[in-house]
Amino acid sequence: MTQTSNEKTGFLAEEENTGNQPHNNKLFIETVGCQMNLLDSELVVGALRQSGYELASDINEADTLLFNTCSVREHAEHKVYSQLGRIKFFKKDRPNLVIGVMGCMAQKDQKLIFKRAPHVDLVVGTGQLAEIPRLVQEARNDRKRKVAVSLGRKNGSKLEISSSFQSYDPLRDPEMRPSPYQAFVRIMIGCDKFCTYCVVPSTRGPEQSRPPSDIASEVKVLAGQGVKEVTLLGQTVNSYKHTENGKQYRLADLLELIHDTNGIDRIKFITSYPKDMGNDLLTTMRDLPKLSRYIHVPVQSGCNDVLKLMKRGYTVEEYLEMHDRIKEIMPDCAVSSDFIVGHPGETEEAFQKSLDIIRLCRFKNSFIFKYSPRPGTKAFDKLADDVPDKEKKRRNNIMLDLQNEISEEDNYHFIGKEVEVLVEGMSKTFIKKGLEPDSETQKVQLMGRTKCDRIVVFDGNRRLEGSLANIGIYDCTPTTLLGMIVTKEFQHGSEEGLPILH
Ligand code: 5AD
Ligand code: SF4
Repeated sequence: MTQTSNEKTGFLAEEENTGNQPHNNKLFIETVGCQMNLLDSELVVGALRQSGYELASDINEADTLLFNTCSVREHAEHKVYSQLGRIKFFKKDRPNLVIGVMGCMAQKDQKLIFKRAPHVDLVVGTGQLAEIPRLVQEARNDRKRKVAVSLGRKNGSKLEISSSFQSYDPLRDPEMRPSPYQAFVRIMIGCDKFCTYCVVPSTRGPEQSRPPSDIASEVKVLAGQGVKEVTLLGQTVNSYKHTENGKQYRLADLLELIHDTNGIDRIKFITSYPKDMGNDLLTTMRDLPKLSRYIHVPVQSGCNDVLKLMKRGYTVEEYLEMHDRIKEIMPDCAVSSDFIVGHPGETEEAFQKSLDIIRLCRFKNSFIFKYSPRPGTKAFDKLADDVPDKEKKRRNNIMLDLQNEISEEDNYHFIGKEVEVLVEGMSKTFIKKGLEPDSETQKVQLMGRTKCDRIVVFDGNRRLEGSLANIGIYDCTPTTLLGMIVTKEFQHGSEEGLPILH
């Protein structure tokens, strides 16, 4: 059940109702947060395009402004509120502007958003994204505020709460993708793990897996649009479970189902939950050639006392056992992690244990976050935020330095070897600097990823984009391998040939 309510806007309480004024069909959308949010934005843009909208890259050009938001850390919310502050007076000159806040913050703060930003017209939670085209239209016509959000996790039966969060997976919009060759595919929504620090179970609702047949058709459609790599998305993607036609599908079964889709070269999935990493999944991954050799499976802390406070549901020893199984079944598989530093109760000794687990597991990379108390979570209610911000920053920097050192050492082993990459497009630096292709060779700086998700940068022609290429590595940084295209002649001409790494 969806909670929807209308309310007259503060703006129009003072101004004359402008009715259905002419407006341009341009949409500006800003997205913060995770891959799930990027996907949601793509889908909302796709739906609005169907209603005749086109994307604007300039906020001043569009009459519809949407902010897709994140609540995982306070900083992400601040960013949106300050952006909303900057556009406070936009409606003075453009009375027909419609401003919407969608996603996690909309679900979390609901009507509070109107208090902090009275010029907002729409507040649409993660479970109501399908309603956006209609709500934008209605808000423009009746100039009344709209709130469409799901039930809170304690405000109904499990079924009522689950059905108030709708999975939203309509037509796809190629223009919003990270590259034309890569696409995200949602396989589940929500989370039932309730880690004490995390707001996601409330903002994204109960865990619900999508039917395998829907996912398989979506992957086929994407392949038809030229997509070469799909990344399956879920908050705990390896907890996927869905029964269809009497058969229960887990992630391993789903991977088998979509593996042979024509046109798809690579399949990845993020983010995994340590306790649900079964051997069946690992052996399936090993045996299916299109599967990435990469698992993002956050440990969050290397200290059992902290893991207990976080209610992560495993011990350091259990995580290490899982990590050993990954490396045993796929020795070439890269593993990455998330860490929270300065979590309530994290002593210096506990922090040192997190550094120890980085040394032991030698993660390909770690995403490191300073603990941010989130209203509505158990940690916020029950645990004191007892590590000062300065100390959180110090721990963050120390951890980052250690992880970088390890990443660089491990990248160093690739020097002199050959890797196969899926070419994603021009490198970030090339785009940022606004560089032009070489006038003689037409070469640009390209980037791609190895099967184990390492970023590789090399010079080449743009026609390579979307294809698999072999690259010889000659240098590295902690985050990047630097290489050169290996031509066929070179490959076959060398006597021993370079060993191909993933
Ligand atoms: N504070 C800091 N980091 C957090 N994360 C989730 N909640 C918080 C929080 N309250 C981090 C976790 C998670 C990642 C997506 O964000 O590390 O894996
Ligand atoms: Fe948040 Fe834990 Fe669920 Fe991940 S598993 S989304 S950290 S509650």
